[in-house]
Amino acid sequence: MRRPLVAGNWKMHGTLASVAELIKGLRRQALPAGIDVVVMPPALYLAQAVAGLEGRGVVVGAQDCAVEPLQGALTGEIAAVQLADAGCRYVLVGHSERRLLLGEEDAVVARKFAAAQSCGLVPMLCVGETREEREADRTLEVVSRQIGVVLEAVGVSAFARAVVAYEPVWAIGTGLTATPEQAQQVHAAIRAQLAAADPSVAAGVRILYGGSVKAAGAAELFGMPDIDGGLVGGASLNADEFGAICRAAGC
Ligand code: PGA
Repeated sequence: MRRPLVAGNWKMHGTLASVAELIKGLRRQALPAGIDVVVMPPALYLAQAVAGLEGRGVVVGAQDCAVEPLQGALTGEIAAVQLADAGCRYVLVGHSERRLLLGEEDAVVARKFAAAQSCGLVPMLCVGETREEREADRTLEVVSRQIGVVLEAVGVSAFARAVVAYEPVWAIGTGLTATPEQAQQVHAAIRAQLAAADPSVAAGVRILYGGSVKAAGAAELFGMPDIDGGLVGGASLNADEFGAICRAAGC
């Protein structure tokens, strides 16, 4: 039985004051005991979130890490070892905004995945197709390439200590959500790809859905057999909405 996980990706949102408010709101939420809850603030606010959420059943993750795991001369980047030192437990790798807007390629994503794991962080590997790719019926091909590059670089056993997030690009921040059936089809394909390499790793890996997840509709998504929780962007900036999504994953 896979333990559901809900992660909130705050993206490039927040100020010291608004992060304090959001933390206060999260501390008030009744969260189900049987799930993992993660919030991913901008790096500047990681320490604030770690301190503010301690003991509240919400752990903290980062949105990205450097390709090099250890400290060094790499201006502007943050090493996985530093994220771990700051109290992070998870880190997103390969979010589509980084792939598409910053040109982050599969090989870079694979290095970040490995860097995260080498420092004890759980990488959350984001994959997903653009609207053009879906319309050209290339969804499964694209997602399988994105998974395949990492699989080849780190080996299937690394997925026992990782999370996958399927996020169709056309559903991110657009208000368009994949239907539970559309998402399930891709989740099942991802699990099958991993199962071809190692069935028990595949059976245990959590695959989250992301893309305009809201409290309304979350229970239907999370009810699908291969959907193990959500990666939530916009709705995670509202503590009550995020709490409701977490509760939908807990039932
Ligand atoms: P969204 O973002 O929920 O605002 O669509 C999801 C994500 O990009 O992780």
